[in-house]
Amino acid sequence: MNILETDRLLLRHPIPDDLDALYALYRDPEMRQYFPPEGVSPDRTLTYEETKEELEWFLQGHPRRPELGLWATILKENGAFIGRCGLLPWTIDGQDEVEVAYMIDKAYWRQGLGTEAAAGIRDYAFETLGLTRLICMIDSENQASIRVAEGIGMTFEKESVDETGPFWVYSMTAGGKSPGHERGT
Ligand SMILES: CC(C)(COP(=O)(O)OP(=O)(O)OC[C@H]1O[C@@H](n2cnc3c(N)ncnc32)[C@H](O)[C@@H]1OP(=O)(O)O)[C@@H](O)C(=O)NCCC(=O)NCCS
Repeated sequence: MNILETDRLLLRHPIPDDLDALYALYRDPEMRQYFPPEGVSPDRTLTYEETKEELEWFLQGHPRRPELGLWATILKENGAFIGRCGLLPWTIDGQDEVEVAYMIDKAYWRQGLGTEAAAGIRDYAFETLGLTRLICMIDSENQASIRVAEGIGMTFEKESVDETGPFWVYSMTAGGKSPGHERGT
């Protein structure tokens, strides 16, 4: 099922046939450099089996919140699977949150596609799903991700920590008001 379109991208529910393309991203340490360690591999990559499990988990949207999920991100001009982006539910510091998540194949970095996907997701979240607040959870070293979050109107809100370690929370609310403040102030 298609979720949303931007100028260059189509975001749709993943399908089992996406597995090899998704695994090509998840087995690459550079793609997963800033992800918390979640699988068996010390370099944060996922195995084929772990990738398959994650793909199956998201086939119909997030099982607890089917309107959310990680969606296949397709370049419209050639139909290529170039990433997975979406909306994920978390509880952070006791508060229910929805994260804008993005990953674009490194062959396509720095063409504005990460920001384009994230902006499309932001608009979908606020306008179609009626969400009122969005966050990004970012490793403080992940400059590209910080730039994408800022590019869609988020600002630094706080540092938080969970069982995987510390991370930065960027946030925004519908209507453009941000509860945060500029980094470093
Ligand atoms: C984060 C990611 C999606 C950005 O994708 P992208 O398509 O290259 O992003 P864009 O082209 O829209 O670039 C956004 C901004 O980041 C900057 N940028 C991109 N890669 C960068 C890098 N490696 N270092 C510093 N800045 C970078 C761009 O110059 C651009 O800056 P601007 O807004 O000032 O013009 C991509 O790097 C990625 O998939 N990384 C691996 C997965 C990941 O870490 N996801 C985020 C987890 S929180």
